[in-house]
Amino acid sequence: MIYATGDLHGNTLRFRPQYFPERAEMTKDDYMIVCGDFGCIWNGDKSDVPQFDRLEALPFMVLFVDGNHENFDALSEYPVEQWRGGKVHKIRPHVIHLMRGQAFELQGRTFFTMGGAQSHDIADGILDMDSPDFYERYDSLRRSRGQFRINHISWWKEELPSDEEYAEAWQTMERLDWKVDYIITHCAPTAIQQKINTDFRPDKLTEFLEEVRSRSQFHYWLFGHYHDNRIIDEKYVLLYEQMVRVL
Ligand SMILES: [Fe+2]
Repeated sequence: MIYATGDLHGNTLRFRPQYFPERAEMTKDDYMIVCGDFGCIWNGDKSDVPQFDRLEALPFMVLFVDGNHENFDALSEYPVEQWRGGKVHKIRPHVIHLMRGQAFELQGRTFFTMGGAQSHDIADGILDMDSPDFYERYDSLRRSRGQFRINHISWWKEELPSDEEYAEAWQTMERLDWKVDYIITHCAPTAIQQKINTDFRPDKLTEFLEEVRSRSQFHYWLFGHYHDNRIIDEKYVLLYEQMVRVL
């Protein structure tokens, strides 16, 4: 079995038996794919470990693409390994990060993965703890309930892919002749994002995904990021708390 769900933001409550009774039928050969904003690798120290233990103790395997709210410093500390045809970070034996621009063979189907997204909740900027006016700006933004994040604490520039990651994604799709079964991302291609909310501006990644969309053949495209559960144009599945069976 393969299920997918949307942003966890470090909260795994939805996997409890009362919310996800289907887990009774699942084993470690079954997968739950999180479409980004996994958020369980967040503090980047041993305070994350109980969360990893909880995830590893689930009856199924947890796979995730990264979103924009991930601690990319901590994530990049894990060695890159090859798994089911693509590159991964193994957080635990059954908790695996599916890296960007990869394709994986899972239960006889091909999954193309491309995490990342541009943060929308940073209208008042990114603060840097090393800057001399950090505490002053931090206090004032806190008081005015500003929308801001802190570099390397709650925001990382790696939320958007690097040139190498785009290039690798392109090569992967070329190799597959632009045919896959499922596409798993955190944000949506530009045209789909526009249908969700016209306030969201296109960026380099949504434009890249738009190019992927126009070239590829696929059954379903699953993504998160926009905090809603919706199906757009029959093939584009926006997920938040819902857990849907993919296979
Ligand atoms: Fe997100």
